[in-house]
Amino acid sequence: MRRLLVTGGAGFIGSNFVRMVLSQHRDAFIVNLDKLTYAGNLENLGEYLKHPNHKFIHGDICDGALIKKIFDEYKVDTVLNFAAESHVDRSILGPKVFIETNITGTLTLLEAARNRNIHRFVQISTDEVYGSLGADGKFTEDTPVNPSSPYSASKAAADHLVKAFGHTWGLKYNITRCSNNYGPYQFPEKMIPLMINNAMNNKELPIYGDGLYVRDWLYVYDHCTAIWKVLTEAAASELYNIGGGGEKTNLEVVEAILQRLGKPKSLIKHVTDRPGHDRRYATDTTKITKKLNWHPTVSFEEGLGKTIDWYLENKQWLANVVSGEYQRYYHSMYADR
Ligand code: NAD
Ligand code: TYD
Repeated sequence: MRRLLVTGGAGFIGSNFVRMVLSQHRDAFIVNLDKLTYAGNLENLGEYLKHPNHKFIHGDICDGALIKKIFDEYKVDTVLNFAAESHVDRSILGPKVFIETNITGTLTLLEAARNRNIHRFVQISTDEVYGSLGADGKFTEDTPVNPSSPYSASKAAADHLVKAFGHTWGLKYNITRCSNNYGPYQFPEKMIPLMINNAMNNKELPIYGDGLYVRDWLYVYDHCTAIWKVLTEAAASELYNIGGGGEKTNLEVVEAILQRLGKPKSLIKHVTDRPGHDRRYATDTTKITKKLNWHPTVSFEEGLGKTIDWYLENKQWLANVVSGEYQRYYHSMYADR
């Protein structure tokens, strides 16, 4: 039995990963540690919350005593660190919690893992650590790290710490750097669910700047299968880029959402740009394709359709997450823009 500590498993990607593992891999026991910040939600786990191979623990990855206790009590042999403050705009509003969770939290997990000779420490990172691309080219695993937002700077720092623990103490690790994800259970502060929610409610769709910024979109399930491949098949110390090859401008994405929902383009509103906005991300996935035979299975068109259908079918989930704190956030981010 694999004994996995999944952190941030009540968030968007973490909960999709927990669902995938519990439904497909009977030989895995998951301890799911999550602080349940505004982005964490036990509803994301549904019936899997009570699965016999799943134990949810409400807590903080910065809490060293708790992490030690979890390692000892559950004989953890693998860590998958999804827990993070994950939204660029919030990191511009207030970077401190990004430093605490993304850097100090990762360090706390590494400290607990290093003496225990664990099987693997997988750090779930992002292609945003590479910074911005011009019109051409793609990020490879050899592209120098050059982060431009407080979020991506904190993720890059965490990646460096993970590597340093491997180099200094022989910790067996992998780092995955994935492009933008979308799919079920994504909190509607990120572009795709925010635009779906607004369009469903006939509210304006706030496009930053000219809307010609480019992201490489990957359906969340494909990200989860890539992480599982890395965990089970990659050699230690290897870093893998993960991406969908689905480069789109933000305007293209928003127009596709409007078309699918039968809403007018007049809902689009160009608003003041994000400070320091990275122009383009594109990920070269040759390494994971060739070495691990991983391929995305869901095209952008299919994935966007599935995602929109999911939000239409889960209006109560959406209503719950946009109540309370979300309204304050939305107002402070968009009211005077
Ligand atoms: P998310 O914001 O939806 O979820 C983050 C989860 O971490 C939440 O459940 C939250 O409660 C939990 N958390 C936050 N601080 C914590 C702490 N101190 N201790 C314990 N739990 C804490 O994020 P996501 O989109 O699911 O991203 C997951 C990971 O994947 C992050 O590390 C992110 O950097 C990375 N990533 C995200 C994307 C993307 O497009 N969303 C792309 C590439 C990489
Ligand atoms: P986002 O989902 O925040 O991901 P990231 O910034 O980590 O790539 O944003 C995706 C793109 O959409 C990015 O170029 C910023 C843009 N965007 C908007 O134009 N309007 C919005 O309201 C949001 C949230 C994002």
